[in-house]
Amino acid sequence: MLGATGRTGEHFTNRALAEGHRVRALVRSPEKLAAHGERIEVVRGSITDTIDTDSLVAGIDYVVVMLGDAASQRRTKINTAFMKRLIPSMRRQGVRRILYQAGALSRPHGGRLSPALWLIRNLIARSFIGQHRDNESVMAFLATQANDLEWIVHRAGIYSDGPSKGRLQRSSRKYSVASFADCADYNYRMVTERSAIHTADLSHYE
Ligand SMILES: NC(=O)c1ccc[n+]([C@@H]2O[C@H](COP(=O)([O-])OP(=O)(O)OC[C@H]3O[C@@H](n4cnc5c(N)ncnc54)[C@H](OP(=O)(O)O)[C@@H]3O)[C@@H](O)[C@H]2O)c1
Repeated sequence: MLGATGRTGEHFTNRALAEGHRVRALVRSPEKLAAHGERIEVVRGSITDTIDTDSLVAGIDYVVVMLGDAASQRRTKINTAFMKRLIPSMRRQGVRRILYQAGALSRPHGGRLSPALWLIRNLIARSFIGQHRDNESVMAFLATQANDLEWIVHRAGIYSDGPSKGRLQRSSRKYSVASFADCADYNYRMVTERSAIHTADLSHYE
């Protein structure tokens, strides 16, 4: 789990633990983790450190990525750089599947944004431009250099925290402004969803 202390990642981690899974989480600040117990293994570090990514993924079934640092991503594509180290480690360790959460305002590789999303991205959400570009670069990397693995991208349309507003469904066109909890629930279902492999779809409420 990458991003376990984040707003989506915390919900995802709690859900995975509640369902009886074991979780290995790379975190910069272990004290921020809400989840405790013998089923969570905490590895302290940053994706920008020279961490041992082979050890990080050894023995796991799924990699789940809900990383974001808008300030750093304005300067450098830190997620892309990390994914370029992580994917070879997954291959070496025989880990097949990865779910990566990007945003609805990030253009999928080979696709384009609707005019409405393009306007929101370039006007209202302009301060997140580095994050969009990093997410787009990750999607391009996965689509062009990692199709031997089972990657899944969720282009989430999160806007608010708060309680569940319903159940999100996958869509190539429709999107909803969702809560972090609902995006985490969607990601939890999607990581084992075979039909989502090699897609970079949006999500919307039924
Ligand atoms: N927030 C939104 O409204 C929104 C909307 C659409 C899409 N998304 C996408 O969803 C993803 C996650 O968003 P979020 O809002 O749930 O995340 P978030 O609350 O901003 O949390 C980001 C997580 O990434 C971790 N992280 C950042 N830099 C790191 C580093 N160098 N090393 C290790 N961990 C690091 C953070 O750790 P720390 O606790 O140490 O900071 C935190 O756990 C992002 O890709 C974002 O583009 C977000």
